[in-house]
Amino acid sequence: MPVSLRTGKLNPSDSLTDYACIHREMAPSVVMRRTIGHFFGIMHHWSDSPSTMYIRTPRTPSNDFDAAHFKKALSQFATGVTVITTRLADGTLLGLTASSFNSVSLAPPLVLWSLSDRASSMPVFSENSHYVINILGAGQAALAEQFARKTGDRFAGVDFTLSRTGQPVLTGASAWFECHNRSRYPEGDHVIFVGEVEHCEVSPQAALIFHDGGFVQTAKLEK
Ligand SMILES: Cc1cc2nc3c(=O)[nH]c(=O)nc-3n(C[C@H](O)[C@H](O)[C@H](O)COP(=O)(O)O)c2cc1C
Repeated sequence: MPVSLRTGKLNPSDSLTDYACIHREMAPSVVMRRTIGHFFGIMHHWSDSPSTMYIRTPRTPSNDFDAAHFKKALSQFATGVTVITTRLADGTLLGLTASSFNSVSLAPPLVLWSLSDRASSMPVFSENSHYVINILGAGQAALAEQFARKTGDRFAGVDFTLSRTGQPVLTGASAWFECHNRSRYPEGDHVIFVGEVEHCEVSPQAALIFHDGGFVQTAKLEK
């Protein structure tokens, strides 16, 4: 497919939907400004740098890889490992292992993680006002496995305390973030949760890492 390099000016043949999608990473106000300009056929003078160029390539009709190949490729991205915990009003504890954690914003302090839409804990994490994200240390691989199991009591034999809002904080975690359940964004077969951090604690140590389908731990490189 030919790749057209374009200036920021609108092309009357672009569909509004495509345009909004291509610019989905822009602020909604920017998409709206450009969409309105398009609608009226105005040759807009963009507030962006006039030298800004966009690459526009049509989407491929289908992916040329299967899920196993996609997962293998993703597994090369080493992540930390968390256990995300919450509690029902009747005291029932919930928790699951998640490696999809990441930081989002410093001010306000925001983090994200994603939960499979098949997760049994989805209704609770969707409705509870708070949860705690526990970052596991290198010595906590067994906890990561325990909190990913489909059956059994995941909290059996687990040492924890309760946060201000009553969520389990796993003893020995290298850090933990008590989050207000700020927003949720369904995407594909997962829901992205954005949490606003109300409290966090740190206990620096070697980190548990998930890479290529297995657990490893961090070690400082020799200088
Ligand atoms: C290292 C590791 C990372 C995981 N990361 C996630 C994740 O980010 N999101 C997710 O939905 N499941 C993740 N899982 C799978 C869940 O822990 C597992 O499916 C769990 O059973 C879901 O719990 P639930 O069905 O009780 O909610 C991960 C599992 C492992 C072992």
